[in-house]
Formats: sequence, C-alpha cells, structure tokens
Amino acid sequence: MAEKRRILSGMRPTGKLHLGHYVGALENWVKLQNEYDSYHLIADYHVLTTNLNIDDIYQNTIDMVIDWLVVGLDPEKSPFFRQSQIKEHTELFLIFSMLVTKARLERNPTLKDQVRDLNIENIIYGHLGYPILQSADILLYKGEGVPVGEDQVPHVEITREIARKFNKQYGFVFREPKPLLTKFSRLVGLDGDAKMSKSLGNTILLSDEPDVVNAKLKKAKTDPQKIRRNDPGRPEVCLVFSYHKKFNPDELAEIESGCRSGELGCVDCKLKCSSKINEFLSPIIDKRKELENNLDTVKEILVNGETRARSVATKTMEEVRSAMKLG
Ligand code: TRP
Repeated sequence: MAEKRRILSGMRPTGKLHLGHYVGALENWVKLQNEYDSYHLIADYHVLTTNLNIDDIYQNTIDMVIDWLVVGLDPEKSPFFRQSQIKEHTELFLIFSMLVTKARLERNPTLKDQVRDLNIENIIYGHLGYPILQSADILLYKGEGVPVGEDQVPHVEITREIARKFNKQYGFVFREPKPLLTKFSRLVGLDGDAKMSKSLGNTILLSDEPDVVNAKLKKAKTDPQKIRRNDPGRPEVCLVFSYHKKFNPDELAEIESGCRSGELGCVDCKLKCSSKINEFLSPIIDKRKELENNLDTVKEILVNGETRARSVATKTMEEVRSAMKLG
C-alpha cells in the first residue's frame, strides 16, 4: 500500500473553541485524518506575536485540546503537539528567516488585516516574521497539504517560496506544500458579522450548554425587514437561516418557504435552530465533561504526540544541517 501523504494543520491556542472553528476547520480535519497522515500543531509561540502576556497559555491549550478530542480528532492517528516543546521549530525558523526579505513580509495581506483589526502602530519583528515560523511548522514535518481557511493562504504561499529558495541554495530537501481549502469555510457571527470570532464576542462555543445556546440564538439578528411575526422574510440575508443550512439540512426547504411566506416567525425559527444546534452539541458536551475529569489523559496525549512529532522534526533538521554542511 502506498504511504499516505502528510498534512500539517495548526491553530493558536486561544481557549475554548466555537462553532466557527468547527465549521471552518475541525470538521475538515476530522475527515482528513482518515485520508492523510495528519499532524496537528498547537501554535503557542505564534500567540506571542500579538500578545506578550501568555499566563493563560497552558489552560487555553488544554481547553483547545479537549475540543479537538470531543469533535473526533484521534490522537493515535494524528499527533497533537505544542510548537514550544519542540526546539527544532525555532532552529528552522532562524534559518528560514535568512531566505525572506523584509519587503516580502510587509506585502503579506494577512499581516495588513491584523495590523488594521488590532490597531497595531509599530509592528514587532516577530510579528512580521509570523509566516516564517509557520513555514518552519509546515516544512519540519514535510507537510504537503495544509488545511486552512482563505486568510492563511498567503502564509502557505510564503512557505512555498521558502522551500523553493532553500532547495535552490542547498539542494533538495522540501516539497512545496499546497493549501487544502475548506469548502464551507465561514460561519457568520451571532451579530451578523461575516465571521464568528472570539474577539467579536459573537460566538457559540462547543462547550455552551443548551440554555446558553437558546439565549444566544434568541438575541441573534434576523432579516431587519421581517418585523412582525407574519411579515415575509428573506432567508438569504438571515444568519439564523445560514445556521439551519449547516445544522438542520433536512428541514431547510420547509423553513425557507415558511420564512418567505411569513408563516414561520423568527421566534419559532430560532427555537428550531437552537434545538438542532443543541442536538449537535449534546454528545460533544458529554465527552468534554468526561475529559475534564480525566485531565491526566489529556496531558498524556500531548506528551505522546510531542514524542512522535519530535522524532520527525529531528530527522528533518538532520537533513537540513547536512544539506547546509553545518556541523
Ligand atoms: N496561522 C495559523 C492561524 O492563525 C496557525 C498556524 C500556525 C498554522 N502554524 C501553522 C496553520 C501551520 C497551519 C500550519 O490559523
């Protein structure tokens, strides 16, 4: 049997995950772990690029790992590991930083978005170098595919350029990775913003209990032209409808026609929606409780994943050193 191709995916540990993470990434990762040899990186050093205070990093990592597990990522198939625990990331980051110009990094559109969104006046050197660290993450494991959302595509492009430049200078070591884009990659936020995101406070967490989900949905914005119960609505502008699309596909046609005709009011439509979301979350929440009572298992998963990841990383660094005639 041919060997499975390797993919490398990663997330910054920002704490408990939400439905946007699930729809935009995790659902895809779970599927891909059967088709590919998958590695799952916890990008804890990347957090420092925008936040020097990382007192919560351990707790956030544990919360994130629990969410990875409860949605069905299998640590036997796909090792979970922290960037900060594998020194080769920093080593390769340093070498790669010699292969990219400042101008190239300044052109990165993802950086420009972050600078605007976070109101950053003076970019630190490490933040400018964010994609170089990400390139080291990917190439250390010789990831050929990188499952990401649109915003990360520029980083994969820089990774490809670095691989090319390295090979040209020192001889072939790295294949150029490709982004694996997620199809349904964005979930709208509860406030109607284009993106569900923690910093916007418009999320439904994977750990939200039913009463929390109900309350959040109750406040969600709907079609502003549907004011009274029997007014006809426009599902295409309603975020609740977009959640039905994802979590209630069986009733979609009925909901669409009920909304358009005015027969279905927003209150009832939201109740149907929260009950579907709760149905989806119920087994996830149960598993989370189980794991929260077994934190040693979670820690062990990390330690084991880090042992496996380290052996791959060490081997790649040996190749790099030998290609560069270091040592
Ligand atoms: N930059 C990615 C994000 O913010 C996280 C990340 C770090 C990553 N290293 C990676 C993603 C390597 C894929 C591969 O989502």
